This record gives sequence, C-alpha cells and structure tokens, in this order.
Amino acid sequence: MNPQHFSQLAETLIPSEIVKLGAAIKEKIKAGEHIYNYTIGDFDSSLFPIPDYLMKEIINAYKEGYTNYPSAEGELDLRVALAGFLEKKEGLSYSPSEILIACGGRPLIYSIFRSIVDKGDKVIYPVPSWNNNHYTHFTEGVHVQIKTSPENNFLPTASQIAPYLKDATLLALCSPLNPTGTSFSKKELEAICDLVIAENESRADGAKKLYLLYDQIYWTLTFGEAQHYNPVSLRPKMKHYTVFVDGISKAFAATGVRVGWSMGPQELISKMKGINSHIGSWAPMAEQKATARFLSNEKEVDDYLKFFKSEVEYRLTHLYKGFDQLKNEGLPVNAIEPKAAIYLSVQIDLKGKKTKSGKQLSSQEEVTDYILSEAKLALVPFGSFGYDKESNWYRLSVGCCKKEDIENVINNLRNALQLLS
Ligand SMILES: Cc1ncc(COP(=O)(O)O)c(C=O)c1O
Repeated sequence: MNPQHFSQLAETLIPSEIVKLGAAIKEKIKAGEHIYNYTIGDFDSSLFPIPDYLMKEIINAYKEGYTNYPSAEGELDLRVALAGFLEKKEGLSYSPSEILIACGGRPLIYSIFRSIVDKGDKVIYPVPSWNNNHYTHFTEGVHVQIKTSPENNFLPTASQIAPYLKDATLLALCSPLNPTGTSFSKKELEAICDLVIAENESRADGAKKLYLLYDQIYWTLTFGEAQHYNPVSLRPKMKHYTVFVDGISKAFAATGVRVGWSMGPQELISKMKGINSHIGSWAPMAEQKATARFLSNEKEVDDYLKFFKSEVEYRLTHLYKGFDQLKNEGLPVNAIEPKAAIYLSVQIDLKGKKTKSGKQLSSQEEVTDYILSEAKLALVPFGSFGYDKESNWYRLSVGCCKKEDIENVINNLRNALQLLS
C-alpha cells in the first residue's frame, strides 16, 4: 500500500480531467503542431472579448480606489443591480439579501454542497455533467448518477429521477448543460419541479429538505427555437427549494474576471456566505463595481449579447452542418443540433477500425488520440464528465474556434475518417 501523506480527501480527489487534457494539448501546440483545440470551456479573447463597457468600468473602479475587501455577501450595489437584472430579464423576484456574490460559479457550487450535504447524504445528478462528481466527493455524499441518453438530448427525465428522490438531500441540475449544449424542455422541467415539491411536502417538519441546485450559467446562450426555463418561474413554490448558480463567466465571455452569483432561500444563502467568507472566495471589489454598472446598463448588455450570441451560433451551426454532411456521406459520425451554450455534442464511432498502418483502434482513448493526431482536432470525451469511459460521444467547444477554420476542420476529419478501414 502507498503511504498516505495527505488528507483522505486530497489523496482521493481527481483533478479536473479537462484541465489535464488541455495541458497535454498545449504541449503539442508548443511543440509546433497546429491543433484545432476545441476542448476548453473558455474563450479566445481575440475572438470573444469581454464587453468593452465592462472592461472600462473595471479600470475606472481600480482608479477610483476600489481595492479593499468587499463585503462578505457581495457589494450591495451589485446585488441591487442583479435584483433588477433578474426581474427584467427573467421575471425572477429576488431581494438583495437572497443573493450572494462570489468569485465565479465554482465557489458557489462548493458552498452549496457544503451547506446542504452531510457525509452519506444522497446527491442526485445526471451524467454526463460538469464536476458534480467532484463536488459530491468533496462532501462525501452518496453519488446517485442518472445516466442520460442521446434520445433525451442527454438530459435527465422526471421518470428517471423519481425513484431516487426519497431521502435525497440535493438534486444537481444544469441547463443549458455543459457538456452537451442542450437544455430542458418546459414540460420536463415542470415535471421534475413537481416531484421536488411533492417530495418536500411529504417530509416531516424539521427533516432535511431536498434542494435543487440549478446551474444556469449558460442561460443567456440559447439558439433557434430553444428557450431557457428556470424552476422558480415555472413553479413559484420552487423558490423554497431552489438555489441558482450563475455569473458573467460564460454569459459575457468573462471567465477570468471572476464574478458569479447565487440566488436562493435567505437562510441557505446566509450559510453559504459563512463558508465563502472563511475561504475568502469573494469577487474582487473593482470587478463587482464594474459588473454592477454593466448589468444596470441594459443597452450595453443587449448590444453585447446580440454580437456574442450570433458569433457563437454561427460556429455551432456551421460545425453541426459539417458533421451532418460527413454523416450523409456515410462516415461514422453524428451530432445533436445545437440548442444552447458554447458546446456541440458529436459522436465519432471508430472503435474496431484499422488505421493505415494496420493498428486497430480498440478503445475510445485510442480513437480520441487518433482524431487528435490525424485530424488535428482536440475534443473532450463524455467519459471526462462522469459518463462511460467507452462512450463515443464528445464535447466540442467553440470558444476558441475561428470561423475561417471550420471548413478545414471538417475536411481534416473527413480525410482522417477515410483513411480507416
Ligand atoms: C456548468 C458550469 N457551471 C459553473 C461553471 C463555473 O464557472 P466559473 O468559471 O464562473 O467558476 C462552469 C465552468 O466551466 C460550468 O461549465
């Protein structure tokens, strides 16, 4: 047995697999290979700059001397601006005391888990999904994974969730979903909310509640017919049981600016605040001031989203069309029509095929490597999001995709697929 030098948690925590994959690709790029790196859920800032207004206000706020500790719950002007923004854009009514600010979505998710989940509590989450497995590990919760399928756009259904709700403490859902770029239909989300309400109403007074963590960090990015729905607007009673995760990271291509927020029942928000303040995971003061000013300026927000959404949608739809074309040519690929976020779900079914050199691709890892080395295309397998390691579905992220590269990517992939027998 290996000696254990650190805590059980540290010794058993799996570092982010996407970050690990990204590092390996960066090495290849450094070594001079031209890789189309569509793995990371981030943005090339030369293609997707943050809103100019936000940038200017960040600089102004530093010049104005906003360089101190912010208040533990987040600066009041930002929470007031957010209350107005949520009301106007989503019809959600939250008071500033029901809103908590942190340095992005991650510390909020962490403090939600920490505030709700005790060792041995059941946490229900779908796979594939982003990082729920790691947060459940942090809290020593019992993982209840709902395996989703392409037929349901990789979203969990109410009937899949229903059998596990008894005694569960947390249901962690995300829509639009990372990694799939798909989002809940109104009907399915309503059915899930009805289950959560019924389960809570059946619990004895004083028993732990079943909370819904609703991560909607991509909610502004829906395309075509797709619409974003949230539990509280659909079923107002859900306000007692829902805690949202949101922020500027994805909605305004501002992953490095580090401003996120949660809305939820005041008593839960207050516990999360306690945890976050010990960690010190506040959003920087100047960024909070600037975000408050930006979100209060509806024209700046709308103008930015118009530009941003059309740029993302162009890439997603053209890549989708490319995959569809390859499929129509009889090649073993597939894709789900893009609906939301910055992701496309693509399927590459090459296991068992032989390369030019006669080597058989016998695992999905070998397929991923083949696509990387032969088509110069880097994608994240759904296996990195808690799904089967041998699944042939991948996440394609367009945050670093240049429009002029799309044709080359599809041609490269075609050539790589045609070399197999
Ligand atoms: C679904 C989802 N939620 C939350 C986050 C965390 O966002 P942040 O960068 O604000 O911590 C991410 C980041 O990739 C995400 O994909």
